[in-house]
Amino acid sequence: MKMQAFKAKIKKNYPQIAQIFLILGLLVGCGETAVPTPTPIQSTPISQAVATPTLVPLPTAVPSQTPPPSAVPAASPTSPPVAYSMGDPYAPELGSRGYDVMDYHLLLALDPTVNNVEGTVHINGVVTAPDQDVLALDFVGFTIEDVLWNMRPVAYSRQGDKLIVDPSESLPQGQPFTISVTYQGSPLERPSRYVGFAASVGMSFVDGESIYVLSEPDGSRYWFPNNDHPRDKATYRFEITVPAGLTAVANGLLIEQIDDETSSTFIWEHDFPMASYLATVVVGEFERQEAVSPDGVPLRHYVNEGAQTEFAAATVYLGEAIDWMSDLFGPYPYEAFGFVTADVSGVSLETQTMVLLANNMIGQTTVMHELAHMWFGNWVSLDSWQQMWRNEGFATYVQLMWENRDDPEDFELAMAAIQSAVEENGDDFPLGDPPPAKLFSFNTYFGGAVFVHALRQEVGDEAFFSGLKTYFATYGGGTASDDQFREIMEAAYGQPLDAFFAEWLE
Ligand code: TRP
Ligand code: ZN
Repeated sequence: MKMQAFKAKIKKNYPQIAQIFLILGLLVGCGETAVPTPTPIQSTPISQAVATPTLVPLPTAVPSQTPPPSAVPAASPTSPPVAYSMGDPYAPELGSRGYDVMDYHLLLALDPTVNNVEGTVHINGVVTAPDQDVLALDFVGFTIEDVLWNMRPVAYSRQGDKLIVDPSESLPQGQPFTISVTYQGSPLERPSRYVGFAASVGMSFVDGESIYVLSEPDGSRYWFPNNDHPRDKATYRFEITVPAGLTAVANGLLIEQIDDETSSTFIWEHDFPMASYLATVVVGEFERQEAVSPDGVPLRHYVNEGAQTEFAAATVYLGEAIDWMSDLFGPYPYEAFGFVTADVSGVSLETQTMVLLANNMIGQTTVMHELAHMWFGNWVSLDSWQQMWRNEGFATYVQLMWENRDDPEDFELAMAAIQSAVEENGDDFPLGDPPPAKLFSFNTYFGGAVFVHALRQEVGDEAFFSGLKTYFATYGGGTASDDQFREIMEAAYGQPLDAFFAEWLE
């Protein structure tokens, strides 16, 4: 197929493809600015978007609203640094190596008409480091009413963005524990130093009508206390109470709905390991839709009134696509899959089993991109946030593979167009080391996809796809580093790839 035919085809597919370019335009342009109103998706001519990456808005001189990262408490004999950091050099402020959470149990009363959360979170974990006398959770904002250690009141304090629990007893490595935190208040809506395109991360209340959560990468601490790094995955149970008439949606399966005269409680459970940034709670008025993929994956969606037609068009191939990805990468890993639509503009997030889909981003491209994340990012998560290209590069690549699945020539043309767009875009940071404000940039998504394609060409289809299957079979449910990914691909290929990876990433 010639370039002209390709452009015609892109135009035909315009709404879907334009969407992703526009999203990325926003991502790139807004790295340094907090941009309130994204351009409506439909207004970008796609031929231009593909041919002219400069349409990506250039960063303007608007000063960053991002607060400086809060200080990580210094090491002292009584507070070893393991307590205050997961040890991700790219995001040292997040998480703790001092314990490992097995299970979170979130009991939240949420009312969109009053911007208030009343919550109790039970955390079941195990001490994982020797010689500690405190444990630190990531938790920001709210009034803490009570903290329990193994069901008894315990001393606690707040240091920066950490909640320090001090049981005043020895904490032998391997000891299981329960921490329960009861809190209330209106959530802080803070911008993230990693996310320029969303005004804030955490939990947002919309017009007294609905509630949604955006937590990637560092927003979950703004709505529940947790070990906020993907290296500590856990299972979840949610009991969300909302005013009668509203629905609360979360990850996994809806186990029970308990109604009384003034309120409803929705109990959700997700029995697979999940990183805290992928936990979600969305409250609003929805139509529940159920289906099943041809191979039997349960699908359930929560769709806002008025969005049904668009949603139906965006998800016509969803069941087929889940089965197609399952064949390529290994079985869909979770109990169910679906989307919840939300009153937010221009963002969507791959929240595990229940993807958040902005009402103005409903389209096949977004649907396929987020579905691919269930494997790339969710089932195997990043060992360091620095390696974001593996999440977004693969999600973008898989979505493009799906869209061109019947026409390999078209696919090559699409990848060639993207490669020149990436080259002309001229981001001059290495793919493997983005500045924090560029973590979710055009380069990460499309440069990442170009690298994935180059890797596939380097090792050949057989090694590429068998390597990916091994990657999911080996690291599924946990995390992997770029090096671990490279080693898997080297084993499949039978030759070293360190020079090849270094050339692309460094
Ligand atoms: N991971 C999301 C995607 O690719 C993008 C994203 C990252 C995001 N951080 C976010 C969206 C914070 C909303 C808020 O679809
Ligand atoms: Zn993505």
